[in-house]
Amino acid sequence: MATRQKSGKTASGTSRVVKSEGKLQGNARHKSTMDPAKGKLGVMIPGMGAVATTFVAGVEAIRKGLAKPIGSLTQMGTVRLGKRTEGRSPKIKEFVPLATLDDLVFTGWDIFEDNMYEAASNAGVLDHRLLEQLKPFLSSVKPRAAVFDHNYVKKIDGPNVKKGKTKMDLAEQLRQDIRDFRKTSGASRLITMWCGSTESYIEPAAAHQSVKSFEKALRENDEMIAPSMIYAYASLMEGVPFANGAPNLTVDLPVMLELSRQNDAPICGKDFKTGQTLMKTVLAPAFKARLLGLSGWYSTNILGNRDGEVLDDPGSFKTKEESKLGVLEHILQPGLYPELYGNIFHKVRINYYPPRGDNKEGWDNIDIFGWLGYPMQIKVDFLCRDSILAAPIVLDLVLFLDLAQRCSELRGLGIQEWLSFYFKSPMTAPGLYPEHDLFIQLMKLKNTLRHLKGEELITHLGLEYYD
Ligand SMILES: NC(=O)c1ccc[n+]([C@@H]2O[C@H](COP(=O)([O-])OP(=O)(O)OC[C@H]3O[C@@H](n4cnc5c(N)ncnc54)[C@H](O)[C@@H]3O)[C@@H](O)[C@H]2O)c1
Repeated sequence: MATRQKSGKTASGTSRVVKSEGKLQGNARHKSTMDPAKGKLGVMIPGMGAVATTFVAGVEAIRKGLAKPIGSLTQMGTVRLGKRTEGRSPKIKEFVPLATLDDLVFTGWDIFEDNMYEAASNAGVLDHRLLEQLKPFLSSVKPRAAVFDHNYVKKIDGPNVKKGKTKMDLAEQLRQDIRDFRKTSGASRLITMWCGSTESYIEPAAAHQSVKSFEKALRENDEMIAPSMIYAYASLMEGVPFANGAPNLTVDLPVMLELSRQNDAPICGKDFKTGQTLMKTVLAPAFKARLLGLSGWYSTNILGNRDGEVLDDPGSFKTKEESKLGVLEHILQPGLYPELYGNIFHKVRINYYPPRGDNKEGWDNIDIFGWLGYPMQIKVDFLCRDSILAAPIVLDLVLFLDLAQRCSELRGLGIQEWLSFYFKSPMTAPGLYPEHDLFIQLMKLKNTLRHLKGEELITHLGLEYYD
């Protein structure tokens, strides 16, 4: 298992001590302080499309008793405490002080003027009968004007867009939106959750290295600053935690880490782990656990929602491709197992196919080999619903990020690596490789909760049962 580096340099060059994982484990009995979840929690969503509307409509349907929060760890999951013989497995939401669904209030930004009812109807994920029951509530959530630039998302354009001379002006307008929402909603805490389209591929550059260089670049309209970064900057400047559901760099930059730490506004990302990659991060660890070799993994998708249309552009697809491709290498560790994983052909395709709408089909052809090198094949055909898989992830991230900000031990860390469970490309401390195995990620998440509450971490050693 990876260990956290002992010290890390922040983007401003100042050294900062990062607690080692070993130390966290040794401290299992130490309790962190967590402020109670008092008052409303405001959820601000750049990008009010399929995922965002399915999430918000779902929360309202659950609040009204019309549906169940299936897929949500915070709502349905439990955490085992102590020995297997103790029979202590409280619900996570009863174990740590999370906001309740009734506490949530919403706002968002989009380049289209549709309110959440109209946007949800257009997205076509939820059936009409359910949406009608939620209409008054969903119609009341109207998009604020977006910070948008067609050059970063080539396939769409819309009228509801802010104007400003410089990117700094636009950041100021977003900051004002955040202050306005804080006031009008009466929320005591806020969270920003990027559910906007996937932007064109950008690599970290000089402009992203520090707050100083980033602010200069904002004033100079530097093209290395994408709209999503302006939302991230505005949120973190306002002390608001930021989660990134798309594969764009956005908060995965030294400048954002610096701001996040400075302002005690936790960050996490990137790219929700929903369909095909969820399956990949379940199957690949199984092959490695059994020392089965892998020669090829061909993944293809057909989907017909707006996300699919955006990803039809090579620039946006490259951003998604990078996010999807990294997974296997990190799980299989070809450096450690060259005979098994040293020569893998890994391909990911996304094909825009309108008839399917949000109901994506993800095919995987997996060529593996076993004892004496004999080849075998596995085919996975996942007929999934993209936004149905993403919505509970959004809910959990909102509640956990808010918890992180109320927690003495987590709020100043910047990146919340314990939330890797939810992402295709989890953010990590600089120099650390990400943990992709779903079950290691889940253990990390639950052990973090146990640690925060001063409970013993679960190692699954279990020798004591045989004393
Ligand atoms: N659904 C999934 O399973 C899943 C999984 C991983 C990642 N994602 C990512 O989540 C994001 C949302 O997915 P979706 O299916 O809801 O897409 P969508 O196209 O339905 O919604 C995205 C919305 O963002 C808006 N938008 C784009 N740029 C904006 C900006 N700068 N400011 C404000 N609004 C902006 C668009 O107008 C659109 O309404 C995408 O980036 C997608 O790649 C989705």
